[in-house]
Amino acid sequence: MSGGPKQRLQGKQIVLGVCGGIAVYKAVELLRLLTKAGAEVSVVMTANARRFVSELTFQTLSNNPVYTGMFDSVREREIGHIALAERADLFVIAPATANLIGKVACGIADDLLSTTLMAAQAPLLLVPAMNVHMWENPILQGNLKKLSDLGCHVLEPEVGALACGAEGKGKFPDPQRIFEAVETLLHERDLAGETVLVGAGPTLEKIDPVRYIGNFSSGRMGYALARAAHLRGARVILVSGPTALPPPGGVDLVAVTSADQMRKTMLDALEEATAVIMAAAVADYRVAEPYSQKLKKEGAGGLTLKLERTPDILQELSERKGERIVVGFAAESENLLENARRKLAAKNLDLVVANDVTLAGAGFGADTNIVTLLAADGSEESLPCLPKEAVAGHILDRVAAALRRRR
Ligand code: CTP
Repeated sequence: MSGGPKQRLQGKQIVLGVCGGIAVYKAVELLRLLTKAGAEVSVVMTANARRFVSELTFQTLSNNPVYTGMFDSVREREIGHIALAERADLFVIAPATANLIGKVACGIADDLLSTTLMAAQAPLLLVPAMNVHMWENPILQGNLKKLSDLGCHVLEPEVGALACGAEGKGKFPDPQRIFEAVETLLHERDLAGETVLVGAGPTLEKIDPVRYIGNFSSGRMGYALARAAHLRGARVILVSGPTALPPPGGVDLVAVTSADQMRKTMLDALEEATAVIMAAAVADYRVAEPYSQKLKKEGAGGLTLKLERTPDILQELSERKGERIVVGFAAESENLLENARRKLAAKNLDLVVANDVTLAGAGFGADTNIVTLLAADGSEESLPCLPKEAVAGHILDRVAAALRRRR
């Protein structure tokens, strides 16, 4: 499984069940996100949902007929509700009303949506949205607990101003959040049971209380790896230098600043890890004796700082690697493959991701990267210019395969 030009949900069949509630209009946005990512979506609307938004909106955006009634002879002939239930990879009910949740929990099948769910084999994601008092009602909570215990997934509503005028929990989540939950549920989980330790971002080395030596690393490659490893079922520990990126959901993020802090944090976490991916741009030098007070200008002359080497974190990690898979990066501006091969051997790595930082579309700050993967078995694969998420997919394919071989 890897990214490449393949869309994130390509080939996935999703049944989107829509119940009646003011949040129906937001389900339209969710449908748009799902189809944009390549999913084939069949929408089932309850009679009340159709009072809020016309089925034509869902039909146009899904590019599929919308299923509304049990006894619609045309649709039942085209594809009956049982076939609809059988071909789905995932059912998403958004918004899910207290009524629908109650019916599913009690095994009542009295309309097309509840009947289709009765025949469902695929996982079910419920996205409840309702008034705060309905949400807090112990009958509803009991029904949700029963469904969770049976293996259904529930995306809890958000807290905020509700359409009924009340304030509290019950708000339909941001469609992007629902989309991410869908993606997580549909992803191949070939890293389940693994713990992946990722180093990301730059390190900043102090000159005085207000200044530092840093680099242009955005952290994007490391964050893409952490997110993708999480989607593939791994527990992820992301040790990150300062970045402007939002923390990836479901990942244990430990924020650090200097190379020394990153070293200590990663060595401490190594014990738990089964794979390590070092995508951080660790500063190679730090100021030998940082100033304890803010440095003052003196005369017109320049300033000379004495620098000393920082520890090579990846080297230390791989010295203690044991059975772990260890992946490093090689950022080069010349002799790419020669330098990368040297790093692969010198740092005892399983895989090196080599990139020429002078190429447009590669390296620091860019959304894309152009890399060659060099493995310990001597194989070398050059990838085209790809989004960093897709590069992460290729790297994790290698990690997953190496872990499988080691088991
Ligand atoms: N690395 C590290 N600690 C350092 C320097 C680098 O862990 N102090 C890691 C990087 O995260 C990367 C790999 O080592 O995964 C190679 O980093 P790179 O900067 O390409 O090379 P260096 O080993 O620093 O060698 P040079 O700067 O001489 O090319």
